[in-house]
Amino acid sequence: MAPIVVAVGSIEDAIRHSLEAAAGAPPRLREAMAYSLLAPGKRLRPRLVVLACVAAGGDPIAGYSAAAAVEMVHTYSLIHDDLPAMDDDDLRRGRPTCHKAFDEATAILAGDALLTLAFQTLTDNYEPDIAAPCCRELAVGAGAAGMVGGQVLDLAWENRQDGGIDELQAVHAGKTGALFRACLRIGGHIARADEDAIDALDQYGQAFGLMFQITDDLLDVEGDTAAMGKRAGKDAGRGKLTYPGLLGVEASRARARELCRQAEFALKPFGNAARELIELAHQVGGRTH
Ligand code: IPE
Ligand code: IPE
Ligand code: MG
Ligand code: MG
Ligand code: MG
Repeated sequence: MAPIVVAVGSIEDAIRHSLEAAAGAPPRLREAMAYSLLAPGKRLRPRLVVLACVAAGGDPIAGYSAAAAVEMVHTYSLIHDDLPAMDDDDLRRGRPTCHKAFDEATAILAGDALLTLAFQTLTDNYEPDIAAPCCRELAVGAGAAGMVGGQVLDLAWENRQDGGIDELQAVHAGKTGALFRACLRIGGHIARADEDAIDALDQYGQAFGLMFQITDDLLDVEGDTAAMGKRAGKDAGRGKLTYPGLLGVEASRARARELCRQAEFALKPFGNAARELIELAHQVGGRTH
């Protein structure tokens, strides 16, 4: 059987098209939203939505609008993460960060606008019985007990020496894992998957998200600014609680490999339909940017 190739170009089109719903926004705000959203990100979260939908027996095309929605939430989180009040970064996706290219107020508001447009994108493009659970998954994943909570913990553990593995896992599960889990669950809802299937996708999402953040922490130590499109070597300087900081590079790599195995194992019930999700986990485990 020929592999199902998720057309990244189509995801890109969906992301671009989704911005049309903000046509009535003030031009500078629209420009800032487009500047960050359309910058060359890896589009991992959108691909996960579509691939989860495929794994659960759905049509990949049905996942495209939700893919755009999760990318909006992710992009908002990056814009805010880069602000001086948070990680204070000047380079993102190979370009000046949003607050550098525009100004801080515009960057905050562009983030706010992308976050809210994500929910509009879901309700505009899906029937209520799909849109409602998808909105809920996105709210839970992005919210106070999810990504936002994780960002709070990430900042709270800056410049402290007493954080251990449990604290680190809580930071990672929140700031990164929660949105990945939401992507997988949303893909499942779009395919009208049953609870067991959504649970299996969620297990993959948890393992994938933790593995992803370990590789992000490793790349901060070993990666190349040009390849990553964001500055390397920032975490230690800011006193961040990270995997390589706590356990060292080798133990972090071993943990990432173990999580990759866990992610693959979780997808057993889907058989061949999940092969692209499995491939993606392996690619991300060995990524260089
Ligand atoms: C960066 O995410 C933020 C983290 C959660 C570590 P990505 O590495 O997926 O960023 P883009 O979307 O490719 O820019
Ligand atoms: C960012 O984590 C997580 C979110 C934006 C929610 P990082 O601060 O590690 O991401 P990078 O390294 O700046 O991309
Ligand atoms: Mg951060
Ligand atoms: Mg950061
Ligand atoms: Mg990082």
